[in-house]
Amino acid sequence: MASDSLLRKARIQDVKTIHSLLVNCQDGLVLPRSFSELYSRLREFYVAADKGDGRVVGCCALSICWENLAEVRSLVVERDSRGKGLGRQLVEACLSEALTLGIYRIFTLTDRPQFFIKLGFKEVSKESLPQKVWADCLNCPKFPDCDEVALVMDL
Ligand SMILES: CC(C)(COP(=O)(O)OP(=O)(O)OC[C@H]1O[C@@H](n2cnc3c(N)ncnc32)[C@H](O)[C@@H]1OP(=O)(O)O)[C@@H](O)C(=O)NCCC(=O)NCCS
Repeated sequence: MASDSLLRKARIQDVKTIHSLLVNCQDGLVLPRSFSELYSRLREFYVAADKGDGRVVGCCALSICWENLAEVRSLVVERDSRGKGLGRQLVEACLSEALTLGIYRIFTLTDRPQFFIKLGFKEVSKESLPQKVWADCLNCPKFPDCDEVALVMDL
């Protein structure tokens, strides 16, 4: 973790910033989330917060999908805070939580596979994942011809 940021579970007061990080992410295919969804899924989120002013500069969520399957999603680090290891730390926090919960297979859908491959994820065919995984995709304007690939990590 970069010394100027603190990694912690999200709090209700972070929701507006998380919403803004997801909506305003200009690069990378990150689905915006409604406030309703963010409030109800708050416990899924980790955030990176500036140690000085407490400002939230990154977020990531672990969403349980099925028996022994969870998704890492909603990963964003604001531009000025990138390259300091925060993205890695946020994903690792989610992986650690998955282990705590007894979930040993983690997947992600992304158009940035190289970042996740560096963290140890392996590319798999989309068809190898259960259909439930595609629930979010059905409402996406790009479905089914998007650039996202599926990656998996077995813990
Ligand atoms: C992807 C993202 C979260 C990375 O955050 P970050 O804090 O800069 O990442 P880190 O500093 O932890 O980088 C970890 C490693 O991944 C590498 N990396 C970072 N971004 C990368 C990218 N886009 N492609 C390939 N490798 C990348 C870093 O060089 C680093 O490698 P190292 O450990 O050998 O030095 C950030 O660029 C971002 O928010 N992008 C826009 C949203 C997005 O693409 N989300 C994920 C896909 S859905």
